[in-house]
Amino acid sequence: MRIELRVNGEQREADVWPGESLLFALRERLGLPGSKNACEQGECGSCSVLLDGTLVCACLVLAAQADGHDVVTVEGLAQAGELHRVQQAFLETGAVQCGFCTPGLVVAAADLLEVNPDPSDDEIREALSGNLCRCTGYAKIIDGVRLAAGR
Ligand code: FES
Ligand code: FES
Repeated sequence: MRIELRVNGEQREADVWPGESLLFALRERLGLPGSKNACEQGECGSCSVLLDGTLVCACLVLAAQADGHDVVTVEGLAQAGELHRVQQAFLETGAVQCGFCTPGLVVAAADLLEVNPDPSDDEIREALSGNLCRCTGYAKIIDGVRLAAGR
């Protein structure tokens, strides 16, 4: 089946099969490998994207469900060659180690700061609780979100 959707501000089309996930379509059909595929079960958050402005796990959304909708992936956060403030802050605080969790965390943190520009540490932890990181112990990730919030 053919779907049409807006991805990172661009109108795109893709041929997908009915059971295919949005994550697969983004990575394999639309050339956007930023959203990572770790668990494919909604457990890790590495595939986090915004669907019509709502944070979702792209592995749990059918590509067909995104037909006619608006998707923002981690590739869509930087603007005019400038990193998103969360991306920049993650770099500065050392919140990235292997980086596999990073795209999902960046999308989730950017979403948090849209709705809550000055979150407490508990609110940051709560907002990122669906995003698993095996490397950092989370402290530097929290530092990164705090730094981005202050800018
Ligand atoms: S790959 Fe989607 S939540 Fe883990
Ligand atoms: S930096 Fe490796 S999983 Fe988070």
